[in-house]
Amino acid sequence: MPSLRRINVDHSSTEFRFQPAIPRLNAPAPAFEAETTHGRLALEDYRGTWVILFSHPADFTPVCTTEFIEFARIAPALKERGVELLGLSIDSIYSHIAWIQAIREKFGVDIPFPVIADGNREVASLYGMIMPGESTTETSRCVFFIDPNGILRATIYYPMSLGRNMDEILRVIDGLQTSDRHKVALPANWRPGDKVIVPPPRTVEDAKSRATSGYECTDWWFCRTTLPKD
Ligand code: BEZ
Repeated sequence: MPSLRRINVDHSSTEFRFQPAIPRLNAPAPAFEAETTHGRLALEDYRGTWVILFSHPADFTPVCTTEFIEFARIAPALKERGVELLGLSIDSIYSHIAWIQAIREKFGVDIPFPVIADGNREVASLYGMIMPGESTTETSRCVFFIDPNGILRATIYYPMSLGRNMDEILRVIDGLQTSDRHKVALPANWRPGDKVIVPPPRTVEDAKSRATSGYECTDWWFCRTTLPKD
């Protein structure tokens, strides 16, 4: 099988010694303004809505094409949740336009979201989207979940060889919005409607009251509950 551009990595190389900072969770997402397939856009334009900023390695590549088709498929479900999609690669605006047209012609799918043409890698550098171990030029498959206040709330990185899971992207949004709304934490493999974790008690009094709280407690520090229907 042909290799997926796996390169021999010199970890002492300049790329590895001067790694850009990766944005931190619960910190403001780095501000930018960029050329996109929908005109010039700034992160600030998304203030008041959730935004999923995602990068792909290159236009006219098969895995990226399947991902774009699937991002387009979940776009209405994301919109219902108040979430906008914003794509990015280092390809030119002309390449993006041609690829979006090809996806329409060959697969019958309209791409409804803007795609940043980040030729000078300005946004990619701000967000640490280039992983020198994979490619020193192209962006990896990164996903940044940014809340309506411009705060970075979750990040997913996938390698070039693996297309992203759209169910997980929807689950992350559902999880972030549910934990914000109800001030709860969510267990492994949580899905909307599943039981949630009640935050552990912070005082002796609170710990004692767990026994009569009505929560399902396995121990005083491990309690679950069912949320009321929205
Ligand atoms: C793809 O999207 O098919 C792809 C892109 C970069 C490296 C490997 C695969």
